[in-house]
Parts: sequence; C-alpha cells; structure tokens
Amino acid sequence: MAHKVQSEIRKKMIDAFTNSNEEYLSGQYLADLIGCSRTAVWKHIEELRKEGFELEAVRRKGYRITKTPEKVTPDEIRLGLQTETLGRQIHHEESVDSTQKIAHRLAYEGAQEGTVVIAEEQLSGRGRMDRRWHSPKSTGVWMSVILRPNIPPPKAPQLTLITAVAVVQAIEELIDLTPQIKWPNDILMNGKKVTGILTELQADADRIISIIIGIGINVNQDLHDYPDELKTIATSLSIEKGEKLSRSELIRILLGKLENLYKLYLDKGFYPIKLLWESYAVSIGKNLTARTITGSIYGKALGITEDGVLMIEDSSGKVHHVYSADIEL
Ligand code: BTN
Repeated sequence: MAHKVQSEIRKKMIDAFTNSNEEYLSGQYLADLIGCSRTAVWKHIEELRKEGFELEAVRRKGYRITKTPEKVTPDEIRLGLQTETLGRQIHHEESVDSTQKIAHRLAYEGAQEGTVVIAEEQLSGRGRMDRRWHSPKSTGVWMSVILRPNIPPPKAPQLTLITAVAVVQAIEELIDLTPQIKWPNDILMNGKKVTGILTELQADADRIISIIIGIGINVNQDLHDYPDELKTIATSLSIEKGEKLSRSELIRILLGKLENLYKLYLDKGFYPIKLLWESYAVSIGKNLTARTITGSIYGKALGITEDGVLMIEDSSGKVHHVYSADIEL
C-alpha cells in the first residue's frame, strides 16, 4: 500500500513536469500539488534520481528534468504521455514468463481499460500459432494492453489490424522510416520482421469482456543478439536506423497512436482503419501463398474485408476468405 501511495505521488509529479514545458517547478509548488512537505518533495526527487532521471535543482527556481533514464520505467513513460486512458495504469516487471499472462490475470481481476503490462524480459514470450517470441532483456518493447471495447467477439481481429497501423505510425514518427504490414499482423522492414502482434480474448458467447493485445517490437538488438534461426528473418529498429533508440519514447508514441486509432474506430467504425491498413500492406495486389491448417491457397491478395479477413483470388477466379494463415510472398 505504502509503495502504491509513493508511486501515485510520483505519477502526479511526473504529470506536472510533463505539463511544465521544461520550465522549473518550485519545491513549494510541488509540495502544494501533492499535499506534502518540501522535505517529502526532495525525497521523491531523490527517488526519481535513483530511477535514472537527471534533475537540475536551481535556488529560487526549483527543479527541472534534464535527462531521462535508459531503462524503461513507468515514470519515464508517463513523462510526456498525452493519452487519456492508454498507459494511465502501467505494470512494469523486470522478468516475467509472458506479459500476456499477467495482463490476462489483471483483466480478470477487473483492471481498467488501457492498463499496460511491460517487462524488460520475457522467459516464455508467446507468439501466434503457439510459437515462441524471443524477448531478451532490455532490448525490445514487450508489452500487453488491456482494452474493453463494446463489440461482438467476431470483430476482435480488427483490433489486431488497428494495432498494426498504430505500430507502423509510431515507428514512422520515431525513426522516419516506414515499415510494411504483412497480413494479418507482422510488421516488416526490408522484408524482415520487426514487430509481432498477438490478440487474445476474454469473452462470453456474445460479448467481449476484454481484449489483450500483445505487442513485441525489436528495438535495440544487434544482429549478433539473434539466435541463428532468426538472423535471416528478424530485424530491429536500431539495425534499420543505425542507432540506438529510446524504448520509452517509442512506447509513449505508440500508446498515443493506438488511442487515437481506437477512438476513431469506436466513433466511425472499421472503414477508415481498413484504408490506412491497406495503404501500409505489402501483400495487397500481389501473388502469394496462404498456408492454412486445412491446406494452401495460391493467388492474388485482393484486400481485406470489413472484418479484417484476407481475400485471395485463385487462378480460376474464385475468391477465398482467409481467417488465419501464414503468408509467403
Ligand atoms: C507473433 O507471433 O508475431 C506475435 C508475437 C507477440 C509477442 C508479444 S511480446 C508481448 C506479448 N507477450 C507475449 O508473450 N507475447 C506478446
């Protein structure tokens, strides 16, 4: 409990620094804001320093954050976060089996919409189709987001496509390079996978209770960090950009983009998202093979339906609707 109160206070302080436009905030101002003494403010400032923040303290002016830590911390993510709901509750863990597992538990216990689980490392990161997701320590964004949209369960895959668009937009903003989407949810750069998205549901027959969106973004790995079997198929943002990047900044941008697209979706439906998704899709208009559990379909990808289902036209002109498959281009 004491720990929770402490982190709530630091949340308030971080929000104040976020809104200060890098101006100094006086000790008295912060004390009034959080309802404590100036000595207590000083203790919280020291805690932020321990987390890796650098703060300048100037007599008669107050405090100003001059540098944020390399490590991803909830406080650092919140610094500059512009969202209303996404990321307002952040569970940050050093090492977990899978952030999906934790998010499922929190969702079951009633966690509010927008709650985010982030880990520095996952020991059994989960991918689609029961694959594993390589999640080494402090190199990527391993994150699960809890949403509670009021939509029927068959529409849940749309959330995967919304997330894919959000990830592309966030990467574009961070490094000024545009990735491509391979249906349904792989984000590629130079033909190699940089991000995977895994959407899982807690639902009744006719109602979604929560959607857990798992997002894995390879950020600061070097090529030699990958096991041999991944070297030819995976890449990271830093390999593509040629420099190390801030994971917190990426998370912040991503939560902002995701919230905007999610609101657009709830407001206007899937159509605007579909157009955005198709503008980033690598496979549309191309010939490809879709390997499904019942067999392979070869043909031209026409686009996606309103429900995010891939349409493939084979050589006889028959249009197949593909709900789940691995795609080979
Ligand atoms: C895929 O197979 O492409 C999906 C990969 C999803 C990985 C993310 S990392 C965060 C979250 N926790 C997991 O265990 N998996 C997802």
